[in-house]
Amino acid sequence: MKSIIPGRFVRVPAIRFVLLVVAVAVLAACARGAANGQQPQTEEIERGAVIYTERCAVCHGPNGEGEPNWKTPKEDGTYPAPPHTADGHTWHHGDDLLFQIIKGGGDSLEIPGFNSNMPAFAETLNDDDILAVLAYLKSLWPDEQRQFQHEVSLQESATAQ
Ligand code: HEC
Repeated sequence: MKSIIPGRFVRVPAIRFVLLVVAVAVLAACARGAANGQQPQTEEIERGAVIYTERCAVCHGPNGEGEPNWKTPKEDGTYPAPPHTADGHTWHHGDDLLFQIIKGGGDSLEIPGFNSNMPAFAETLNDDDILAVLAYLKSLWPDEQRQFQHEVSLQESATAQ
């Protein structure tokens, strides 16, 4: 079929092509975001920060700095609350494990001979609250650590299947 408008068959596909390029660029940007450990949404971080201040700061410090000498066991063998910043090791653990520690408490890991002072929040925080507080903790890390933790999370869910 011949068009009576000259150039029509050229112009329309050209626009489609431009749209396709834009769509691919957007998808690529999203994929990069995911690879960077998906910087959580600001709103969720802010909600998590409020929960953190109310529930966690008493032990882990107002800015996630942890208790002094957190690597040294106390007299009863339990450990002080560790930092959640880049100085701690929260970022060494994947999402599922962190979620479990917060929901079930440190003792839910059932490490033989280990008593944890990390309380369970299953009764006081719902799953969305826990995810929000995790989003806040992630916001305390530099990109490199967020990326590392994201990869640990991916491995964790791969081995869980
Ligand atoms: C009563 C004090 C206390 C409160 C309150 C508390 N924690 Fe903890 N938390 C600890 C202690 C102590 C540990 C150290 C690990 C252990 O002994 O099991 C810990 C460990 C953790 C860990 C594991 C860190 C790691 O590096 O392995 C996470 C994650 C965590 N807490 C998150 C939270 C969040 C989120 C809140 C608030 C919703 C919270 N904690 C409230 C005492 C507390």
